[in-house]
Amino acid sequence: MPANHHRFSNRIVLLFLLTLETARRPASGDSNDAACLANLHQTLEDPANNLHNWTKPFFSNPCPAVSDSHLRGVTCNNGRVYKLSLTNLSLRGSISPLISSCTNLQSLDLSSNQISGEIPPEIQSLSNLAVLNLSSNRLSGEISPQLARCSFLNVIDLHGNGLSGAIPQQLGTLARLSAFDVSNNRLSGQIPANLGMMRSDGNSARFNSSSFAGNKKLYGYPLEERERSKGLSVMAIVGIGLGSGVASLVISFTGVCIWLKVTEKKMEEEEGKISHSMPVY
Ligand SMILES: *[C@@H]1O[C@H](CO)[C@@H](O)[C@H](O)[C@H]1NC(C)=O
Ligand SMILES: *[C@@H]1O[C@H](CO)[C@@H](O)[C@H](O)[C@H]1NC(C)=O
Ligand SMILES: *[C@@H]1O[C@H](CO)[C@@H](O)[C@H](O)[C@H]1NC(C)=O
Repeated sequence: MPANHHRFSNRIVLLFLLTLETARRPASGDSNDAACLANLHQTLEDPANNLHNWTKPFFSNPCPAVSDSHLRGVTCNNGRVYKLSLTNLSLRGSISPLISSCTNLQSLDLSSNQISGEIPPEIQSLSNLAVLNLSSNRLSGEISPQLARCSFLNVIDLHGNGLSGAIPQQLGTLARLSAFDVSNNRLSGQIPANLGMMRSDGNSARFNSSSFAGNKKLYGYPLEERERSKGLSVMAIVGIGLGSGVASLVISFTGVCIWLKVTEKKMEEEEGKISHSMPVY
């Protein structure tokens, strides 16, 4: 009986603490969200002062009401930041890697600004992310294959940037992807088969050429198979390289042989002269 009583009062204390915790949370804000927004504000440049109310007192509590925020472009859900939409605000600067601290983020839309730098690979840890729209900016660098870890992604719109490198094969594994646009970048290499081709279930085609257009070095279905002729020319270059290598080897070998023969002859002659001029005893 005393043991039971003890357990019961423990439960009461626990319940009390939990109630305190949930009551406390909306008032003080989520520290991850606060860090996320503060760092994003720091790395973004805002020459038009569009984020003038992204100030410190608001960062510390970005979601005061359950589904409301007083910060421009921020939408909250259950006291957490779940949508960030800062489009067409003349923003410059870069995306903070600490964007990953907004752990409940479902939609990140920073489209139509002049944001530069790379897409922080840290985005991979936003496991609830469904919409990623960074189109029409000045982003560079490669698309991280780890982006495919955000398995709920259904929109990836990166068109109109300066992204380079290949489109990661892994993005083809994103089963929910319904919009994908990487047109007008500097991407290269072959389009992953499971993005361009029919899906393995065979009934819904994935993305057509407008998703991939405007990348000079990108090839494969649904774009033209430009690589075939390029493949030949690469073989030709290798052939010429190998051929001229062998030829120069043969030539220098012959040269060395001739030189050896000539010096041998000279030495013989020299020896002959010497033996001639040697006094005979
Ligand atoms: C912050 O700015 C947005 C848009 O300009 C506005 O809707 C919102 O009311 C502002 N919030 C505060 C607290 O000033
Ligand atoms: C991404 O944002 C741009 C500009 O705001 C918009 O036009 C486009 O439709 C968005 N992409 C998707 C797939 O919703
Ligand atoms: C590609 O598909 C979209 C709809 O998903 C359509 O609006 C567009 O016209 C298509 N483009 C081409 C070149 O077929």
